[in-house]
Amino acid sequence: MTTLIINIKELLQVRETAIAKVSGAEMAILPTIKNAFLVIKDHLIADFGSMDNLPQIPADKTIDASGKMVLPSWCDSHTHIVYAGNREQEFVDRINGMTYEEIANRGGGILNSAKKLNETTEEEIYNQSKARLEEVMRLGTGAVEIKSGYGLTVNGELKMLRVIKRLAQNYPITIKATFLGAHAFPLEFKGNHQGYINLIINEILPEIAKNKLAEFIDVFCETGYFTVDETQQIMEAGIKFGLKPKIHVNQFNSIGGIQAGIKYNALSVDHLEVMTTEDIEALKNTKTMPVALPSCSYFLSIPYTPAREMITAGLPLALATDYNPGSTPSGNMNLVVATACIKMKMTPEEAINAATINGAYAMGISATHGSITIGKKANLIITKPIPSYYQLPYAFGSNLIDTVLIEGEIFA
Ligand code: NIG
Ligand code: FE
Repeated sequence: MTTLIINIKELLQVRETAIAKVSGAEMAILPTIKNAFLVIKDHLIADFGSMDNLPQIPADKTIDASGKMVLPSWCDSHTHIVYAGNREQEFVDRINGMTYEEIANRGGGILNSAKKLNETTEEEIYNQSKARLEEVMRLGTGAVEIKSGYGLTVNGELKMLRVIKRLAQNYPITIKATFLGAHAFPLEFKGNHQGYINLIINEILPEIAKNKLAEFIDVFCETGYFTVDETQQIMEAGIKFGLKPKIHVNQFNSIGGIQAGIKYNALSVDHLEVMTTEDIEALKNTKTMPVALPSCSYFLSIPYTPAREMITAGLPLALATDYNPGSTPSGNMNLVVATACIKMKMTPEEAINAATINGAYAMGISATHGSITIGKKANLIITKPIPSYYQLPYAFGSNLIDTVLIEGEIFA
């Protein structure tokens, strides 16, 4: 099956580098080809270039992209798409003055979602989650990481991971599973943290490894959640079971989570709303991708990740949604890109790199996703006719996506 996309007004290539991510000043570089073509064969990008060099090949299908842009699909490296119900009441409570912390302390927040999840059947969770997945695919996401973490029991966590696996089997989008049993301490372990950690290590992790239910291990390293020592203990156990760390750090406080992540070779450290100079220094010359979640900052009215300081320091940065019922009930990567430009002063080029190739790196899939490169998956966004790619962040409330291709097929 060969598909030809022709007359592309501008093809946003996204640069492929030897280390499969872009850092610092490189993030400002976004190679594009004006008046371009792209060939898809067997679900992969087979060729692309200027229309002047359009190859004479038989195509099963031709898409005319006159006036439109083509770019790689968004790579959303941090989500909690699998959950039950919603937390709209807490949203209204926050409008009326309560803080996210106060809500969590009264047994709401993550524990509220965990209660709902444990009371909901696996089938129902699958149905709710697949609707969210289809929504983000229509919004241009072509690869997504999904975490557990609303079970907080052996059964609940495994149930979530099975739902993620089933989504991965039933949808063409690339899905990476992360075990986040260490998301919060269940009430019954409030006075016995080690007891819950032992449950994670001795009962849940072996099941995950046996059934290949996750590739990554996550911990919410934060005051009131998991300490740095507890985080290290859990990362260490995860690594023994073959899982690579990717952790929540520095959302509200800088307590050393970044340094712990780096020590255990975390693929990414995510949130980073509160960053010290030492935190930025620590990330230099490491393989760990910093990930910012600006729609979480927006929804909770908390600081934005200091992207400018980090990029000026030479660091890479990825952007993800954090789609979850409590802190970010939105999986819209277009809004994330716009918010990064508007609130974090990232340039459109930096934001697009952060949401594609660097997001792919933060899921360990930059060899196959995140740029227009021959041999990579044909996961593409075709925009509506727009004057330039600046429109993507500029027209922040508009849906500028015309067509989404996943593995070379139109996703309707
Ligand atoms: O990434 N910070 C920790 N976990 C999620 C939110 C969890 C929730 O409120 O349900 C996050 O923001
Ligand atoms: Fe998160």
